[in-house]
Amino acid sequence: MIKVAPSLLSADFSHLRRDVERVEEAGADYLHLDVMDGHFVPNITFGPPLIAALRPHSRLLFDVHLMIEAPERYIKDFVNAGADLITVHVEACRHLHRTLTVIKENGCRAGVALNPATPPQAVEYVLNLVDLVLVMSVNPGFGGQSFIPAVLPKISLLRSWIEERGLAVEIAVDGGVNRQTASLAVKAGATVLVAGTAVFAAPDPRVVIQEFKSI
Ligand code: DX5
Ligand code: ZN
Repeated sequence: MIKVAPSLLSADFSHLRRDVERVEEAGADYLHLDVMDGHFVPNITFGPPLIAALRPHSRLLFDVHLMIEAPERYIKDFVNAGADLITVHVEACRHLHRTLTVIKENGCRAGVALNPATPPQAVEYVLNLVDLVLVMSVNPGFGGQSFIPAVLPKISLLRSWIEERGLAVEIAVDGGVNRQTASLAVKAGATVLVAGTAVFAAPDPRVVIQEFKSI
């Protein structure tokens, strides 16, 4: 069954609690929280205090996507804020294995993210450590960009490694996910669909979320 992770980046920032409750009622599985530091990516969003403020108002799995340099400095802060899953970028970690181990030691699920130009081999030796691989299908930093189809073979290759090794690792796809691109990503082997614009700009998020889940 496909899981849907609405990205809060496309919500109405003056009504965050309301929008989180809306997507939860609409059947979302995860709440995808895009943290950006203005260094790893050109944009700045929010940090642990905002996540902590939303935590009491939702039962969704809080899926924190860290688009920040040297994320090992902040793992504890995000765990304390209520993250259930913390995803770090391979491009932002000097000691990826150590950072993922620290996330797990803090009782959190661990994810690893790959920019569109980063080869899947970058996560080959940490696949057994992670719960999720996040394949970026846009260059991170902004919502509302177009899906880059060149990442589809990367999803397929990761899926084949996961199957060969008998691992229970989810593959999430993030960026430009809509009806068409969602099917392509699922066909390639994705099991989690992250979607900002497609969910929050829809007249009825429930319709989109249910469509995605039934692919
Ligand atoms: C991009 C973020 C995505 C983004 C997705 O840097 O990681 O999660 O919000 O937004 P859409 O679905 O609009 O491409
Ligand atoms: Zn994201």
